[in-house]
Amino acid sequence: MSRIEQLLSQMTLTEKLGQLTMTASGYAVTGPIIVGDSTDSIKDGSVGNLLNMVGPGPTHEMQKIAVEQTRLGIPLLIGLDIIHGHRILFPLPIAEAASFDPRLWERTAREAAKEGAADGLAMTFAPMLDVSRDPRWGRTAEGGGEDGWLNSRIAEAKVRGFQGDDLSSKDALAACAKHFAAYGPVNAGREYAPVDISERTLREVHLPPFEAAVKAGVETIMPAFTDLNGIPMTAHVPLLRDYLRSELGFDGVLVSDYNAIGELIKHGVAADLVEAATLALKAGVDIDMMADAYRKGLPVALERGLVTMDEIDACVRRVLRLKEKLGLFDDPYRRGSTPEAPQALVDRRALAREVATRSVVMLKNEHDTLPLPASTQRIAVIGPLADAAYDMCGCWWAAGEHEPNTTVLAGLRAALPAAQIEHAAGVPILEDERSGIAAAAALVDNANAVVLCIGEGVRQSGEAASRAYPELAAHQRALAQAVFERASARGVPVIVVLFSGRPLVIPELDAKADAILAAWFLGTEAGHAIADLISGKASPSGRTPMTWPRALGQVPIFFGQRPSGRPMNADDFYTSKYLDVSNEPLYAFGHGLGYGRFAYSDLRVIPERVTENDTIRVTVDLVNEGKRAAEETVFLFMRDKIASVARPLLELRGFTKIALQPGERGSVEIEVAASDLRFLDAGLKPVFEKGEVEILVGPSAEREKLLVQTVRLV
Ligand code: NOJ
Repeated sequence: MSRIEQLLSQMTLTEKLGQLTMTASGYAVTGPIIVGDSTDSIKDGSVGNLLNMVGPGPTHEMQKIAVEQTRLGIPLLIGLDIIHGHRILFPLPIAEAASFDPRLWERTAREAAKEGAADGLAMTFAPMLDVSRDPRWGRTAEGGGEDGWLNSRIAEAKVRGFQGDDLSSKDALAACAKHFAAYGPVNAGREYAPVDISERTLREVHLPPFEAAVKAGVETIMPAFTDLNGIPMTAHVPLLRDYLRSELGFDGVLVSDYNAIGELIKHGVAADLVEAATLALKAGVDIDMMADAYRKGLPVALERGLVTMDEIDACVRRVLRLKEKLGLFDDPYRRGSTPEAPQALVDRRALAREVATRSVVMLKNEHDTLPLPASTQRIAVIGPLADAAYDMCGCWWAAGEHEPNTTVLAGLRAALPAAQIEHAAGVPILEDERSGIAAAAALVDNANAVVLCIGEGVRQSGEAASRAYPELAAHQRALAQAVFERASARGVPVIVVLFSGRPLVIPELDAKADAILAAWFLGTEAGHAIADLISGKASPSGRTPMTWPRALGQVPIFFGQRPSGRPMNADDFYTSKYLDVSNEPLYAFGHGLGYGRFAYSDLRVIPERVTENDTIRVTVDLVNEGKRAAEETVFLFMRDKIASVARPLLELRGFTKIALQPGERGSVEIEVAASDLRFLDAGLKPVFEKGEVEILVGPSAEREKLLVQTVRLV
């Protein structure tokens, strides 16, 4: 008999339910429930998993109780959110997505896993794979933006990074693909609100990242808090059992979100914890995080015959198997036993700086305002986010250390030691207090350039941070206005460094700033990274993974929309448009400028006649016509113009990068599996439909900038 079966045969019901229970240690709480001391519950076997405990000391102390003082000595599974770095913070996921660099996505997850594991953790609740097309939704910050295909690539990289090559090694963590599924399209962008989307959108956009995570071997998945077309995800039999377990063959652990099983009562599908626990168990949720529904509800449900011991055993088996795969039975103290070498931290900071530099998206750069000429002697660094070390963390850093975060002010002072740099915040980040505006704007008089650091505060994005007005606060707009007026009167360029966890609606900034850097939130090395870009030590290379609307009324706005039967035509009234704003976004998906200037030519697509098993080779030539070395991200889209169901105007199918010196030429090749050109037919079955398909290549989803070749599917 295997170790797991042997254990299972000896376990009492209390011990079994303990393995299906995860409670918080009180270190960090993201919901309404705070439990007291779990030590006694660990001893009697009624708690088998913990979240939010961190550090080798505390985790090993708890492990020791589980292993040495319980009847069966089963080790604990201890998990924590590691959303964008553990102690050293990397850019927010939405920012890191902008780097369009799978190797970096993987490396940051690998480094975060090493740090987390060195802190005694064996599991993390990441990556978040929810596609967001609505900047009102605060958790946009925690994901990879608007596209399902892109989020699938992120999923693969993150799962590989967190889990490494060997899950049992001392630096590997079990990853958790969350939140399954379609949490992003909450009604009107309001957190935890209901979700109503079509089966087609679900399957085309929201499920693929989870499928990619399962294929990459993700060990755990977390159902979303939300309901989907009326069925709460925590009790969603068709998606959890039929799709995940049967269709995809996922046999890892399903862990509920924080108190989500208990919330089935408020969703209105369960009368009490007994019913709630029954629904979740029947759907195949293995671990109850923080609702205490399994421990309290399942014994009664068993008695009433609502659930069977076999159903409970199946969950326990999966949890024990995960602990075994993680090597916890062999050595529960492996993780956290050896402190990391000091050099590892130095290297990790260097990585944080590199990723942060690559995550910034230069939205605008009129008259080559950036990089600042070396002759710039006096710089006014204005705005409430210029010296905001704490805010640089970006939302939800769990165990992150914010003390060493570099600010823009500190970064610029370090990068430009000869320049005279003056600073005034002008206004606070959140509070509408305008008395400092005049003095701050006065700094413009003595400056050759202004760096204006404005945007959201650290808590204005993330969980429970939906905003009906995702834009600059009125008092920050007033500061910007005062600075723009003074600067334009004196011919001083204004560079806006915009901080946010989401695209903001900023038509005024776009109209008035000379340059705009979308910095999102970049973590520990924020200030150095921004200074590297402003000073020209590095060229901006980030591309926005989400479309920026010019007006909130355009939301949801995304490049993958389907055509209309009456496409917009300015000369025809009865076409698809607004009376009061253009259809065009402020910045398209993929937009992002650099210090080079790239021209594309000679798009080649081979073969011209494509069968389903072919690999399509797409090549394009580029030349850097700019005056500086730079890196270009090249996007590949497809468009199936005539098909049995209306297909999106553009579908992302590839991207790559090329770095070129001024005047240098080069070419890139992107391969696309022809099977990736399939779509879901009217019955939602994948089909490789014969006919013409356009392959479009270029710098962003802006249609006019794309080169096009047509292939024929045969
Ligand atoms: C609630 C969040 O929705 C989830 O993403 C997170 O993993 C848990 N809290 C635990 O922190």
